[in-house]
Amino acid sequence: MREDIRNRSAISHADVTALNFVRSSAPFVFRRHYRQGLRSHIMEVLDPSDVNVEQNGKMIAGVRCFPKATPRRMFRIFRARLKTLENALFEIGRVKIVERYLAPDFMARSTECIVDYQRPEGRDLMLCGFQEYVAGQIVDPWTVLGATDLLPALYENFSCQGNPLSLSKGHWIETVRQKGYRFINQIKRMISEAGHIPDLAGAGNLIITVSGGIRLVDINNISGVSYTPSIDLDEKGYPVCDKSIEALSLIEEKILGGPLDMKEDVYQWFLHPDRRKALKAKEVSFWKRQVGG
Ligand SMILES: Nc1ncnc2c1ncn2[C@@H]1O[C@H](COP(=O)(O)OP(=O)(O)O)[C@@H](O)[C@H]1O
Ligand SMILES: [Mg+2]
Repeated sequence: MREDIRNRSAISHADVTALNFVRSSAPFVFRRHYRQGLRSHIMEVLDPSDVNVEQNGKMIAGVRCFPKATPRRMFRIFRARLKTLENALFEIGRVKIVERYLAPDFMARSTECIVDYQRPEGRDLMLCGFQEYVAGQIVDPWTVLGATDLLPALYENFSCQGNPLSLSKGHWIETVRQKGYRFINQIKRMISEAGHIPDLAGAGNLIITVSGGIRLVDINNISGVSYTPSIDLDEKGYPVCDKSIEALSLIEEKILGGPLDMKEDVYQWFLHPDRRKALKAKEVSFWKRQVGG
């Protein structure tokens, strides 16, 4: 028997349909998404007829075109092991917090499920999700592009890719700013009212859509925010809470422009120069460990 699917570096359609909880005759094509993170397998759920058009083309105005199949859904398999059912429900409970503040406009909705996975060594609980697909470009908080360059660059990319942009550049940027303002506010409320923050630091976790929307797709890595001197690390030893707050501040600067209000509790505490110095040290040891294997 093959090894546990959660340990594999990459999986295919056949691996998904071989899962004991997926019908082997499922009327979909599962394809590994071209973007992947570290914590899940992300599979596109495609309509076979879309895949057929992608491979064989269709005539558009006398020209044979090969449009890429758009996922109908995203199927996610979490790599993390769940010790108990309570563990699994706890994880799902955290997703509910994110939903409370970000649904429906600012996140990709997802149906989380706990399945009984038949693996080589016996049965085990596994967490999966069926999520709506969000088309667009990733917003990278760590990009060097600042407030005056990032949004125009994203707009130009959309238009180069032949997307139907119904808004002029100025209107589009204004729309992103308005939605970005509300998004950032909701994240700040989640921090102050619920004491939690989603992972805003991870590559590709946030997507800007062609209509100027901003949506979180990685809704499952949520950390508690505590105003204590220690810097919390996640299970991989990464200071995810502090880095997410730093990412939030960068997104605010890059999307809204203008200076941050350093009197806001969250920035005052987490962006304090002394804390930043301590954070840098945690990050350095995290990356050293990554390089060292
Ligand atoms: N629902 C979705 N729609 C569009 N892209 C997605 C979706 N879910 C994940 N992705 C892309 O797949 C990549 C990995 O997903 P992510 O949720 O960050 O996984 P991980 O839990 O491993 O960090 C990200 O770059 C993200 O942009
Ligand atoms: Mg991620």
